[in-house]
Amino acid sequence: MKRNIAILASGNGSNAENIFRYFEGNEDVAIALILTNNPQAGVLERARRLQIPARVMTRTEMKEPGALVSVLQEHHINWVVLAGFLALIPGDVVRSYHRRILNIHPSLLPKFGGKGLYGDHVHEAVLAAGETESGITIHYIDEDYDRGERLLQAFCTVSPEDTPESLAGKIHRLEYYYYPRVIERELLSADE
Ligand code: GRF
Repeated sequence: MKRNIAILASGNGSNAENIFRYFEGNEDVAIALILTNNPQAGVLERARRLQIPARVMTRTEMKEPGALVSVLQEHHINWVVLAGFLALIPGDVVRSYHRRILNIHPSLLPKFGGKGLYGDHVHEAVLAAGETESGITIHYIDEDYDRGERLLQAFCTVSPEDTPESLAGKIHRLEYYYYPRVIERELLSADE
């Protein structure tokens, strides 16, 4: 059975590209769509370069009942991967793709999760709190943002010399290693 993944991203999209490269040449898994809510997102340039179909949908368009589900169905999507996606996933999408929407959060949830805590804000908050470790959390999503069944956490140290940029670098290294592997594991085990 062919698994078609849509990656939803609002920013630079380095995770999206990393996931694409991991599955490149895989006959059973394809990155079939890149979807963003941000017409300026770097991920669109990556999609062009990598020749992945891309689509921009504003938050307002996404709120239209059934709109996002029908875009996903149009592209025969059976898995959704969030990679730095900053818009809320509508409830009908969460229900239609139950246990098929994965998210990565750049902290050790439940610490430093929730409203306003995304991207560099997370790293700034971790440093301001004087934490000695941080990391990533990969989880399924439910209708509440950073909630849902946790699949993996991976850790890195935080030193007093760290800046939001250096911490983001450590976090990205963990993300690039673990996210594609957890996605692969979930895809294969769900469809066995
Ligand atoms: C990642 O750190 C992700 O965990 C967070 O936003 C960042 C996105 O980075 N939610 P990129 O766009 O994949 O480079």
